[in-house]
Amino acid sequence: MPVIEAHGLTKVFRIADKQPGLRGSLRHLTRPRHREHVAVAGIDLSIDAGEAVAYVGPNGAGKSTTVKLLTGILHPSAGRVEVCGISPHRDRRANARNIGVLFGQRTQLWWDLQVRDSLALLRDIHRIPQARYEARLEEFDALLGIGELLPVVARQLSLGQRMRADLAAALLHSPPVVFLDEPTIGLDIIARQAVRDFLRAQRQNGTTLLLTTHDIGDIEQVCQRLVIIDDGRVIYDGSIEAVRQLVARERTLHLLLGADWRGELVGELPGTRLVQGESARQVAVTFDHATYGAGEIVSAVASRVPVVDLRIDEPSIEDVVRRAYAGELDLPASATPA
Ligand SMILES: Nc1ncnc2c1ncn2[C@@H]1O[C@H](COP(=O)(O)OP(=O)(O)O)[C@@H](O)[C@H]1O
Ligand SMILES: [Mg+2]
Repeated sequence: MPVIEAHGLTKVFRIADKQPGLRGSLRHLTRPRHREHVAVAGIDLSIDAGEAVAYVGPNGAGKSTTVKLLTGILHPSAGRVEVCGISPHRDRRANARNIGVLFGQRTQLWWDLQVRDSLALLRDIHRIPQARYEARLEEFDALLGIGELLPVVARQLSLGQRMRADLAAALLHSPPVVFLDEPTIGLDIIARQAVRDFLRAQRQNGTTLLLTTHDIGDIEQVCQRLVIIDDGRVIYDGSIEAVRQLVARERTLHLLLGADWRGELVGELPGTRLVQGESARQVAVTFDHATYGAGEIVSAVASRVPVVDLRIDEPSIEDVVRRAYAGELDLPASATPA
């Protein structure tokens, strides 16, 4: 049963096309010109209760805009969207009961209030019974160490502390669906891990999560499903396991050479890819390990130039994502549900 459903979801921004300077401003007043920018270009998405989805893509791909459409902050230019059966932009009040939202770049806490007072205000806004509220704070103390943050004024929190307090604020009313836009941005390793562990615990409780991130650790540790978007379009939607399978047979052999070499392996070893390193003494050869043994590759290079050291890498999800952004990967249509 999908809790998040979008069909042909589209957002076109109308941007003032103004020349710089006073003359440009005056001209814009008398003859305004606009151009249109398609930030989200017809996205289909169906997410079931309890799924944890990583929504990734290069800067400007339309991730935040999608989150704003799914949370009702923005109205779609075209297409349909429903979250828990509610149209988020038409019925923002009912929608607010069902969702939690966190924007990593911007706090939702009252800047001049102690965290305790911000949370109490949210308790009142959401009409959370006192006993439930206290139980929730205890839970957040165990998972996020929120207790020590309660007396601190929001503007005095470190970024990691602020994110923990913001998570508590976003999830205080136990929403079944939570949207997180870059929840680990700028955090150190410890704070980042605390956020991931917290999100994993929420997922285990059945909460549906959609998060945008640039961090591969977030994707691998929190989510099972990966949606990659580029230019406002979905270019991949499938399990993280399926992504792994895409590149499972690929290996990269990094060779340190005993002399400068800028040659090729022309005609030999078809299907392999040779990339020269930064120095003329480094090359990397990518190959299918079901087709070639690493020894064959090493011999082929060693017959041209001495090899002094080597290392074999297995592909990472990071490689896949990077190559998907660069359009270097043939993403199978079969992994993308229609
Ligand atoms: N309010 C806005 N007005 C005009 N253009 C916008 C607005 N918000 C975002 N954009 C543009 O839409 C595109 C997608 O932005 P965004 O969704 O923020 O990308 P992402 O979060 O993936 O980095 C970008 O080109 C951005 O400049
Ligand atoms: Mg963004």
